[in-house]
Amino acid sequence: MRKDFNILKRLVPYILPYKKRLILAMISMAIVSVLTGLLAYVVKPLINNIFITKSYEDLLLIPILVMAIFVVKNIFYYAEFYYIGNVGQNIIRTLRDEVYSAIVKFPVPKLNKIPTGVLIARITYDINIIQRTVSDSVSAVMKDILTILVLIVVVFYMDFYLAVVVFVLFPVVIIPVTLLGKKARKTSTDTQTEMGNITKFLDETISSLRTVKAYNMEELEISRFKKLSDNLYRFLMRMTKIRGLTVPFVELIGGVSVSLIIFVGGLQVIKFGYTPGNFFSFLTAILLLYEPVKSLSRLNNSLQEGIAAGTRIFEIIDGESEKMGAHQRSLPEEISSLEIRNLYFSYDKSKGYDLKNINIKALKGKTIAIVGYSGAGKSTISMLIPRFYDPDSGEILVNGINIREFNLKDLRNSISYVSQQVILFNESIRFNIAYGSFSKDMKDIIKASEFAFAHDFIMKLPNGYDTIVDEAGLRLSGGEKQRILIARAFLKNAPIIVLDEATSSLDSESEKEIQGALFGTDENPYGLCQNKIAIIIAHRLSTVKRADTIYVLDNGEIVESGNHEELIEVNGIYKNLLIKQMGN
Ligand SMILES: Nc1ncnc2c1ncn2[C@@H]1O[C@H](COP(=O)(O)OP(=O)(O)OP(=O)(O)O)[C@@H](O)[C@H]1O
Ligand SMILES: [Mg+2]
Repeated sequence: MRKDFNILKRLVPYILPYKKRLILAMISMAIVSVLTGLLAYVVKPLINNIFITKSYEDLLLIPILVMAIFVVKNIFYYAEFYYIGNVGQNIIRTLRDEVYSAIVKFPVPKLNKIPTGVLIARITYDINIIQRTVSDSVSAVMKDILTILVLIVVVFYMDFYLAVVVFVLFPVVIIPVTLLGKKARKTSTDTQTEMGNITKFLDETISSLRTVKAYNMEELEISRFKKLSDNLYRFLMRMTKIRGLTVPFVELIGGVSVSLIIFVGGLQVIKFGYTPGNFFSFLTAILLLYEPVKSLSRLNNSLQEGIAAGTRIFEIIDGESEKMGAHQRSLPEEISSLEIRNLYFSYDKSKGYDLKNINIKALKGKTIAIVGYSGAGKSTISMLIPRFYDPDSGEILVNGINIREFNLKDLRNSISYVSQQVILFNESIRFNIAYGSFSKDMKDIIKASEFAFAHDFIMKLPNGYDTIVDEAGLRLSGGEKQRILIARAFLKNAPIIVLDEATSSLDSESEKEIQGALFGTDENPYGLCQNKIAIIIAHRLSTVKRADTIYVLDNGEIVESGNHEELIEVNGIYKNLLIKQMGN
């Protein structure tokens, strides 16, 4: 309960900027509520003066009054609806942006722990729930409570004793409804988890539909999806039951109450001289009470669901973000060396080290290659340099200074990191190349692309540099994508290159062009690695041959090092890797 309250309290700062609109909404609500009460009140003169006294004057006056009440009431109904909707949408927009920003700033190890689908569900599903709670329910709270209060005044004014009878019945309605609300919250959490599972499943399978088809696994995927879908169906049905039960419950109790009112009220008219106008006005007020009470009871469920969603969303917003160390020192102007010293690292401490006693030294103008079997730990090393992870012990030094001492933004600015996954953003080619260097102009982009041997094929695309990567029909080849990423690295022109080559073997033409892009050609000696500190995780012989020092990684340890010729002499893993490659 206290926790619930805290979640609601946390929403307050999101609401405050829209105070004015909220006040306008509340004024509109107040007018709507009072007019609703007035409507019930008018029934008394209607019955007494028209039906009993038969006054012609009132026969004209009362319908006009009723009409006027309806017109004004609905004008303010619109105002209230608009302002509350507006405040609600604004709150949601802020929350949505904050959740996304929190996710983007998550440290990599934490991102690994939460499935993508779950994170996406936070932004889509949970935010939607909060939206419903905020804009429907918060408005309902204020309007309904106000309306109820006004109607209660009318009720007590018309017939005090009868009113007492009715309000003794009231808690009988409220208690079971609260219990249903609790159940609704639990079910909402379950539904949310299931929704996350489905999003994750969809993300995985739709993006690898080609594999699914290649292995004739369509039916398997359909049945796997059906299982998840059935689960979700069960939770949603449970939700439907709870929601559905709430209304009949309230209505049933309402029906019993009305019968009681007819009996007690009729008795008072017959025996104690109350006018029929009093009675019908009372009854109208009670009937008008039904709607706001009903929506208030629905509100409880919605509030419970909203609190559950809010808890999950604030968990993300409050989550630890990557420490950028903004106050820490900048990197030296001139970067001349990068050294990995006695480094140990494990993804999961209980499972032993993934990297053991790594020592690598890279100097400006030299190219380092790291090779080894799949799973040896090559990509892991590449990810430690931009500090996606930090080592358990040992250090990584730039110009002899531990990289932890630099501010992270600066460190990453000094590295052109090309990951093993060749993934482009679904934006223009120009956007993809300029990513991270948006201040550079088109001339630089073209120059970088020329160096990367990408300009020619880009010009052949339907819209050249403005071609959208995923545009229908356009699929870039693996080598072409890699060259776009190399162009990006060229444009960034960072002093440290960390390139995790994609495993895909290339045809000899692309191979030659990529080598040219990395190390230069006879005609154009300017290559990406020239005059830089270059660490290349190499999967291709042609890359390795050009490296000044090659480190062979096996099972997280460096087992051989030297240049190409020296390592062939050693006759170990390196030679074995080469033989395998040539066999291909
Ligand atoms: N996020 C992670 N969490 C836990 N373990 C991981 C993670 N990423 C990689 N590993 C493990 O660390 C080890 C090294 O993986 P790494 O990706 O560095 O290999 P690699 O040498 O780059 O292989 P490849 O040549 O196939 O790219 C593997 O045993 C792998 O299972
Ligand atoms: Mg790898």
